[in-house]
Amino acid sequence: MSIRFDEAALTWHLSGAGLSYVVGVGDGLPRQLHWGPAIPEGAVPALTREWREGYSFDDRLHTGAELLGELGPQFATPSLQLRHPDGAKGFDWHYRDHEIDGDALALSFTDRDLVLTLHYRLWDTGVLDRWASIEAGAAVEVTRFDSAAWTLPHWADYRLSHLSGEWAGEWQLRRVPLAVGETVLGSRRGNTSHQANPWIAVDDGTATETTGTVYSANLAWSGSWRVQIRRSAQGRVSVTGGAGQEGLRWTLRPGETWTTPVYSGLCSDEGFGGASRAWHEHLRRHVLPTAEEDAPVLFNSWEAVFFEVSEEKQLPLVDLAARVGCEQFVVDDGWFGRRLSDDAGLGDWWHNPDRFPNGLGPLIDAVHKAGMKFGIWVEPEMVNPDSDLYRAHPDWVHSQAGRERTQLRQQMVLDYGRPEVADWAFGWLDKLLGDNAIDFVKWDHNRPFTEVGRAGDDDPDRAYFEHVEAVYALKDRLRRNHPDVRIEGCAGGAARVDPGILRYVDQVWTSDNTDAGDRVNIQYGFSQAYPARAMGAWVTDEPSGFNHRTTSLRFRFQVASAGVLAVGGDLSEWSEAELDEAAEHISLYKRLRPVVQHGVQHRLGDPESDPLTGVQYVRGDQIAVLAFKTPWHCNRPLAPLRPFGIDADSRWTDEDTGETYWGATLNALGLPLRWAKADWDSAILRLRKVQ
Ligand code: GLA
Repeated sequence: MSIRFDEAALTWHLSGAGLSYVVGVGDGLPRQLHWGPAIPEGAVPALTREWREGYSFDDRLHTGAELLGELGPQFATPSLQLRHPDGAKGFDWHYRDHEIDGDALALSFTDRDLVLTLHYRLWDTGVLDRWASIEAGAAVEVTRFDSAAWTLPHWADYRLSHLSGEWAGEWQLRRVPLAVGETVLGSRRGNTSHQANPWIAVDDGTATETTGTVYSANLAWSGSWRVQIRRSAQGRVSVTGGAGQEGLRWTLRPGETWTTPVYSGLCSDEGFGGASRAWHEHLRRHVLPTAEEDAPVLFNSWEAVFFEVSEEKQLPLVDLAARVGCEQFVVDDGWFGRRLSDDAGLGDWWHNPDRFPNGLGPLIDAVHKAGMKFGIWVEPEMVNPDSDLYRAHPDWVHSQAGRERTQLRQQMVLDYGRPEVADWAFGWLDKLLGDNAIDFVKWDHNRPFTEVGRAGDDDPDRAYFEHVEAVYALKDRLRRNHPDVRIEGCAGGAARVDPGILRYVDQVWTSDNTDAGDRVNIQYGFSQAYPARAMGAWVTDEPSGFNHRTTSLRFRFQVASAGVLAVGGDLSEWSEAELDEAAEHISLYKRLRPVVQHGVQHRLGDPESDPLTGVQYVRGDQIAVLAFKTPWHCNRPLAPLRPFGIDADSRWTDEDTGETYWGATLNALGLPLRWAKADWDSAILRLRKVQ
């Protein structure tokens, strides 16, 4: 990675990983001059040509702006909106200085009593992190402060890919022509949301899974967010994104520095697959805390017993989980307070003495004795009104004067922006982890925020930001105090999956929808932005509660083996034959695991359109393909699945059958997979390169 500064032209050229990003302030405003394939240093000055003088109706300052502003002919929705005490608006950019620190660049600008700094960091993965900060010398009101604006190349056409969904139906990939005008994606829910994820990709409408240029961005923020994509009629596209929904406002206090979250961008010339692989590599290498570790196969008791959690009922499951080869046993909701259903108990984080008469110790010992790690479910940001905590501290929840406190799932959100609440949470979590030999925490978050604020507070919208920062800080503090504990991020499934939370959790819960048929699509969407190493996937009982579909145990295991495999079914209801079969699938997964969790992923086919799809993982001389057959009909032929990127003259051995194949044959005829006539079939192929 290198950063070259041209003092005469006032340009900075960040380069590395085959890419260049050039920013210049030659005409006053910080502008992106280039973002794409590496360019020679000598070509940089030519990028600083005069910007076209437009007609009086043009928004001339729009193109290239590193943050879309409010002053002069800038008419796009601004990235930064300020109001000064005298009524003046906006930020009038005056370049002050720069700082280069290794791979990081900071460009500072002044206006009135403010210092605004744009931050850049280019990683070896080709991902460029951008964020911004304002040092306020005097009070200023903020109604928008995005992390960055990106400008895309001038193309003839544009297409937007994004991930939308709902509870139990997350990760639906949409590819739509980008509208001329403004397209807004975001969350007003206080968390990242099931409904939209901040990941986007933009191409010119011709990229495929394996070819074409794709620009992609993702925001590291786990609260409300907004990403606005603007396409002008002349065909220029800019993207601005950051924390908070529109309508919030807060005041920077004199002496305060406000820093935005990181907005990351990348571009790939290997199609959508190339863009996803770059995100996967980046998140594994630089974001997820323990991605280099093998994530264990876990058992989770939620779907097996729901709220019927007790030492007596968990112990038989411990034996069964160990018997089939699980490596970690996770007790889900229902172990604490008076949590007999979702009506009560959140906030009362001590074991239920009726259910665990001798504390958690005997169960934890049994789990460890069975050779497994022990995990426990918590939901630290929430409280049920029917709890000792709420009775003692009714003022600890987000609330507004004179407004009803909305309950969702009979619970409210604690206001972590209050130091006493964050301290309380650290206190009991630290003690829980200190007093018990807990190896893993499933950290849930089961409702969005409403009535955010604090009665009587004169700057109540800050609570949105403070909550997220406090959750990050709490997780960070716990991780430092308990470095061997691993955390699973969960929010009623995937309402809080983004590169921000991934700095503090080791894996995430992908969806409450564990139906294997649905999971093929859910996992396809998830993989656009996030790696298999982070993707929790359970095998549960069928017919599933979601669509009453029934598929074989083999199909369910093979679908879940495409991520971090887990078992979530009621093992006490499984027959001996099913338990034996489960043990075989888990043992196969353990052989696949290094390739699935740490390999490079290629999607083969699209489950929206193709009845046969697969996921190919490559690591060193090993390939694992997990392939799925979803419903088809006779006018949709079952074309063979072909591997990705295999040299014609390489030779491969099937690790299970010993058969060998030429790369050329695999490319020409497709992978040697046998399919049942019926729908919902699956196959796993493990190939090793013959040296
Ligand atoms: C959420 C989670 C589930 C389970 C329940 C427990 O819905 O996503 O996996 O933990 O909460 O109440």
